[in-house]
Amino acid sequence: MEVLETISKFQINDRVMGYAPLGAGHINTTFLVKTKSTKWYVLQKINDVVFNNVNHLMKNIYRTTDFLKSKGYETLEVVKTKDNKLFYQDESGSYRLYLYIDNVVCYEGVNDLDMVYDVAKAFGLLHKSLCEFDASSLYEIIPNFHNTKYRYEQLLQAIKENKSNRVKDCLEEIEFFKKHEDNFSTIVDGIERGEIRLAVTHNDPKINNVLFDRESGNTRAVIDLDTVMPGSYLYDYGDALRSLFTGEYEDSKDLSKVGVDYPVFETYTKGYLSEMKGVLNEKEISLLPFAIYLISAELAMRFLSDFINGDVYFKTTYSEHNLVRARTQIKLASDIYEHLPQLNKIVEKCYKIS
Ligand SMILES: Nc1ncnc2c1ncn2[C@@H]1O[C@H](COP(=O)(O)OP(=O)(O)O)[C@@H](O)[C@H]1O
Ligand SMILES: [Mg+2]
Repeated sequence: MEVLETISKFQINDRVMGYAPLGAGHINTTFLVKTKSTKWYVLQKINDVVFNNVNHLMKNIYRTTDFLKSKGYETLEVVKTKDNKLFYQDESGSYRLYLYIDNVVCYEGVNDLDMVYDVAKAFGLLHKSLCEFDASSLYEIIPNFHNTKYRYEQLLQAIKENKSNRVKDCLEEIEFFKKHEDNFSTIVDGIERGEIRLAVTHNDPKINNVLFDRESGNTRAVIDLDTVMPGSYLYDYGDALRSLFTGEYEDSKDLSKVGVDYPVFETYTKGYLSEMKGVLNEKEISLLPFAIYLISAELAMRFLSDFINGDVYFKTTYSEHNLVRARTQIKLASDIYEHLPQLNKIVEKCYKIS
């Protein structure tokens, strides 16, 4: 790809001075585009291996960010191509341009509990700001992404096929899923029955997708909206805490460090509820801790399925890598499951004071 040539396809009126790689994202390829004025841009080559319908993806982003802007919320702003399209495409790939959100910093991990609170509040605010948006009108960018029931069926299929003769190496892990199988459809069925809201969700609720103001330190915007889709708030909440709990131990063989971090749990829940208290219904509130359990089990299923299938999806560096990852998530899921009553009590307390 010729970057400058690609940039010239978009509606930029200022003179472009140059470009440089930006951020540490793992999915897309991101460049900061500097111009002669103070208005700078972000060019992204969209990963079309992960996202096979860029048209749908860009429509979701355009519609949700437009809605957010109309509510006065700072968000990504799509800059169209000269022929008025949401992205540019040639043989080398698909590209989009955003306005650069300046004077911000982006962190790869949380440093302290204040940051946990701020990130939770930022995702809560995103959910709240989009709660009146008709989620069912959005495209499902990755079908069945958080359909735990479907993910479990995939695991059962992998076990049945036993393509790499690895079932014998993970009997204990398979046993865990068999024992818990009645839980896997709770959220999916709840959405179907109308007890859990079909909501606009982010699906990658990590700190490196939140921009903080360089001066005030306050959160400014939630970015990386590629996976904005219809789903449940519970999965975003659960996934955020799941990744905070496993942190750097996601790939570790040492399971002793994996489990609920109570101060992080309480702080995140407080921050999230400070925005979402009036939006979540009673059923959703009662399932918050359960959602962390469920999403950990779901990810464990995906790792274990891939292990059994012979490591075809996730990148691995040794033959048991996916099994090790599955064990981490199973350990976390088990720890949360055992402590659900205690965690629900903490949620109640956070609810009362929020
Ligand atoms: N509009 C923007 N303004 C400022 N920084 C941005 C903007 N878009 C992306 N970035 C920076 O680029 C990084 C990668 O972008 P992101 O959309 O999260 O890509 P990926 O999907 O690869 O994670 C972000 O973490 C952030 O630091
Ligand atoms: Mg990102």
